[in-house]
Amino acid sequence: MTWDELEGACQDCTKCSLCETRTKLVFGVGSREAEIMFVGEGPGENEDLTGEPFVGRAGKLLDDMLEIIGLSRRKNVYITNIVKCRPPNNRDPLNAERDACIDWLRAQYKLLRPKIIVCLGRISAGVLIGGDFKITRDHGRWYEKDDIKFMSMFHPAALLRDPTRRPETFVDLKDLQREIREICETTY
Ligand code: URA
Ligand code: SF4
Repeated sequence: MTWDELEGACQDCTKCSLCETRTKLVFGVGSREAEIMFVGEGPGENEDLTGEPFVGRAGKLLDDMLEIIGLSRRKNVYITNIVKCRPPNNRDPLNAERDACIDWLRAQYKLLRPKIIVCLGRISAGVLIGGDFKITRDHGRWYEKDDIKFMSMFHPAALLRDPTRRPETFVDLKDLQREIREICETTY
């Protein structure tokens, strides 16, 4: 399956009830050759309206975070979410919705074959890293599965709510940059 075939199939998805309330499905944005994938939780209001991930206030902060370490949403990363359709009132996606949607994400990273996956926030890390993951304790830690390195950092929306987490996130970003320099070939 090609990227365009995958995206076309995903756009028509009705595997869970979020399809009934979405305006636009949010598939992902960025380079289809990126070595690094960022995975958030799910679309919010602005994303649902535009069809692009991380375009609201949290998205602006994410862009700033990426820029600090020489990354850019349209150039050298791919950005998507655990669920592709907006949960009403921005509630957490239900387990049934995560389970219904996860195959789309799996298909995306099979095509992308990223070297690094960065989980943004506790929901994404809980799904992709698993175990008894605690974001306050485990952000910045590296995990390896199927030859992909995983790490997580605080969700930019959480950083907007609690700016005291920003220094730790800066450390995580610099550590991500170090890892990119070590294992990525085309990013920088
Ligand atoms: N929050 C997310 O987790 N994803 C988005 O795309 C926007 C906000
Ligand atoms: Fe399909 Fe995922 Fe949207 Fe549910 S959230 S309808 S599984 S694309």
